[in-house]
Order: sequence, then C-alpha cells, then structure tokens
Amino acid sequence: MPPFDMIIRGGRVATASDTVTCDVGIRDGRVAALGRDLGTADDVIDAKGRLVLPGGIDSHVHFAQPSGPGIVMADDFESGTRSAAHGGNTLVMPFCCQEKGQSLRAALKDYHAKAAGKSYIDTSFHLVISDPTPQVLGQELPALVDDGYTSFKVFMTYEGLALNDMQLLEVFSVARETGALVMVHAENYDAIRFLTTRLEASQRTAPKYHATSRPIAVEREATHRAISLAQLVDVPVMIVHVSNGEAMEQIRWAQSKGLKVFGETCPQYLVLTEADLDGLNMEGAKYVCSPPPRDKQSQADCWRGLETGVFQVFSSDHCPFRYDDPAGKLIPKGRTSFRWVPNGIPGVETRLPILFSEGVVKGRITLNQFVALSSTNHAKMYGLHPRKGTIAVGCDADIAIWDPARTARIAAADLHQGSDYTPYEGLEVTGWPVTTIVRGRCVVRDGRLVGAMTHGQHLARDRSPYAVPARQGGLQVG
Ligand code: URP
Ligand code: ZN
Ligand code: ZN
Repeated sequence: MPPFDMIIRGGRVATASDTVTCDVGIRDGRVAALGRDLGTADDVIDAKGRLVLPGGIDSHVHFAQPSGPGIVMADDFESGTRSAAHGGNTLVMPFCCQEKGQSLRAALKDYHAKAAGKSYIDTSFHLVISDPTPQVLGQELPALVDDGYTSFKVFMTYEGLALNDMQLLEVFSVARETGALVMVHAENYDAIRFLTTRLEASQRTAPKYHATSRPIAVEREATHRAISLAQLVDVPVMIVHVSNGEAMEQIRWAQSKGLKVFGETCPQYLVLTEADLDGLNMEGAKYVCSPPPRDKQSQADCWRGLETGVFQVFSSDHCPFRYDDPAGKLIPKGRTSFRWVPNGIPGVETRLPILFSEGVVKGRITLNQFVALSSTNHAKMYGLHPRKGTIAVGCDADIAIWDPARTARIAAADLHQGSDYTPYEGLEVTGWPVTTIVRGRCVVRDGRLVGAMTHGQHLARDRSPYAVPARQGGLQVG
C-alpha cells in the first residue's frame, strides 16, 4: 500500500454514532484507513489526549451580503472562512441573496466572484428567493436545483425580502416539484411593523425595543403558518434560527404528525437573553438579531429541542457587523430607532466551542450528539453526506482536532473575524479546536493559520434525502 500523506495518530475519533481510539490515515485528500499502527506518513500529527472529529459544518452563515445603504457586512469570504476555520469548521453554507429584479443566475455570478480564490474552507450556497417571478419559479429554480443548488431560504419578514403567503406557496411548490429543501425565516412581518410603529410613536426606540417588537407570538404564529403552508404542498421545510419553546413546540407537533418539518437553533438562543439588548448607550445593538434572544426558560427549551432531536442542526447564523463603525451597528445619523440597527451577530468561530462546553462538558448532550448537531446532520440534511460530515474510509478528510481540556474566556481580541466585538465576550468555555484539516490539508494547525485562501472549493450538492422531487415520481401536487 502506498504511504499516507498524513496520519493523525492516537486520538479519540468520534462520529455521530461511535467513538474509538485509533489512527486516521489520509491519502489524496480522503480518509484512506482507520486503525492502529498505520505506519508512517509525510506528516504525522500526534493526537494523543485530543478528540478527532468531523470538521464542523455551519449550514447558516452570511458573508459579504449587501445589507442596506451605508451598511457593510464585517466579513467577506476571506475573513469569514478564516474565522470559521479557527472555530473548527471545514465547510460553511453561505446565502446567495437575490436582489429584487435580479435573476438568480446573476446573483450567483456575483457571489461566486466574491468567494472564488478567497475561501480557506469549502463553501456551498443556499439561494435566497426575494423575487419569485414566473421566470425565477418556472425556469431558473428548476435548472439551478439540477445544478446542485438544492436549498432555498425564504423570509416571512424584512423589507425587500418578505414573501406573502401566495408567494411562499409558489416557492414551496417549485421546491416540491424539483426536490429542494426550503429554509424558512418565520416571523410575522405585519405584526412586527405594527409593534415597531407603536413603539416608535411612544419614543421607545433604544436597541432593547428590538426584542419588544418581535415577541415570541410573532415567531410562533409564523412558524405554525409556514408549517401549514408546507403541509399543503407536501414539501420539507427547515425552520431556521428557532429561539424559544413555543415555536419549537410547533415543530415538534408537526413532526409528531409525520410532516417533514426540521428545526435549527443557534448559540445566541442558548446563552444570551433579551436583557443583553439593554446595555448602556448603544451597547445593546451588539445583540440585535432576529429572532431576538429571549429568556432563561427559552434557553432551556432550546436545549430540550437539541437533546430530544426536534432540532437536527445547530448553526451560527453568523451575520456580522462591526460595532464601533458608522457602517455597522450604530444607528445612522438622521435615523432614530432600533429599526435601523442591522440585524445579525457574529458567531461562526464560537459556535462549536459554545456547544461543546455548554453541551458536552456540562453533560447535556453526548459527544456523538455534538458531532451530529455540528456536522453530520448538516451534511445529511443538505445533500453532502457521506462525502462530508463524518470520518470514514473514502470520505473527504475534513477533520477538526480538539483539545477537550483547553479552557478559554471568549474575547473578540482572540478571534479571527472581521467584526470588532463578540456577543460572547467573557464567556468561559472548556474545549477548543486546535487544528482544522480540509480535504487532507491543514488550514489551521495548533491554532495558527497555515492554509491558503485558494484551497476552499464551492460544492454542488445532491438533493436532500428528505426532498423527493414530484417530477421524479413523488406525490404530484396542484
Ligand atoms: O438577525 C439575523 N438573524 N440576521 C441574519 C439574517 C437572517 O435572518 O438570517
Ligand atoms: Zn433568517
Ligand atoms: Zn441568517
């Protein structure tokens, strides 16, 4: 047998189902052998005392996305994928966001130009459908699903992005026909507009009122409506960034009826609360995201959703802006309220340490659940398994080596992102990824960036196994 390019020696290798101490032999970018005493290689990494895990897959990130006049997202693909790599990720799935009036092909051309040659780790785009014209629905989407863009995101809120129920049904119907998975941002747009107007009229304009303008009922109602609309056309949906137990219970209810409804939650809903938005001066703006963080009970409910399998994926919803910057979180001159604070917080680098520390170390989830929630289920859900998301012979050698005993106090100064703050400043964690390997090459080694930003590839994806195209013999609707 030819020698290996790399051997990771003596670590505890964990997948979503098993944990075993062994060596991992890597050849030509893939896992070539698992076993003891694999011999020698050009590069041998001693992993004794370390965890050897499938590289993190973050299926919900925003990089270089236009975010309104004068606002600049803090991460492009270079800084975003660098930060992700330092956080133990080997693949991220950013959004390619269609502008109103723009064709999806044109949007993809823009985003590929932003990512090409500027990604340290692998990427694969979801499509945001903001303008579901007959051309988009009838021609572009079916062709793009065939080309490997097999998931779309739709919004039920936000100026310029929100789709009405008719439009949602039209997109769902195309997804059903073509075998795509639809991600849904579930918040009631009209209810938010109504509440925002009332708050502003009574001078309640500080960042903390962002949370008041988007209470749990706004999310619960939209979650139930999205599920009902999806049921009408028998399409699988992923309800993203679920923040609380009431919305989660809608998903659990749907799952108990046998509907193909999936759920995602994020670190901000496990460790932040609405009180964080009530900082001095504009500090609360650092935590403005949608849905907003809630309360301790909601945190416990989201943990329950992870523990019991209501949520399949744990993502960051990394949507970074700088704080101390007129192009970031501060309310622009001439504007007066929370309405103008860009929504979104950074988190791609801290997602996995937070889940590991709060989840595995504190005994809420097992190590194997951690792997499933942080990597394997993302690959399965979005059509990349088994090439990605596990450690097995023949799979891409996408691996994160963790020091499970390393303690750290999260600090923006230590992160590798474009944003000048982290909402998790001061949070103490145990366990940190020290080495990140993408298709057999170290991108981060012992905490140092050693990879090239030309290494990351964009991946076309298979259809989600949960999405059976009606045009290929599934249930015909309409
Ligand atoms: O506030 C958030 N979550 N911003 C990112 C955009 C989105 O809705 O995912
Ligand atoms: Zn969203
Ligand atoms: Zn998002």
